[in-house]
Amino acid sequence: MYICVCYAINERKVHEAVSAGHCDLAGLRAHLGCGRCCGHCTAHLRDMVKQHQCNGQTALPVAGTSTQ
Ligand code: FES
Repeated sequence: MYICVCYAINERKVHEAVSAGHCDLAGLRAHLGCGRCCGHCTAHLRDMVKQHQCNGQTALPVAGTSTQ
């Protein structure tokens, strides 16, 4: 099933990205490109991140951002 129709991102791709450490919406956007057009998928993407086992895992940094 497509999660992000605008960029043809399906559920499997989102699960793989979250499993690889892209444990937040910004990380998914940077890694997959999803959620950057109409935005209709963002609520579903957030739900998928919450449901996925990212417990204790730190989200990978998004290129171009810095916390320092
Ligand atoms: S459905 Fe994801 S940006 Fe449009």
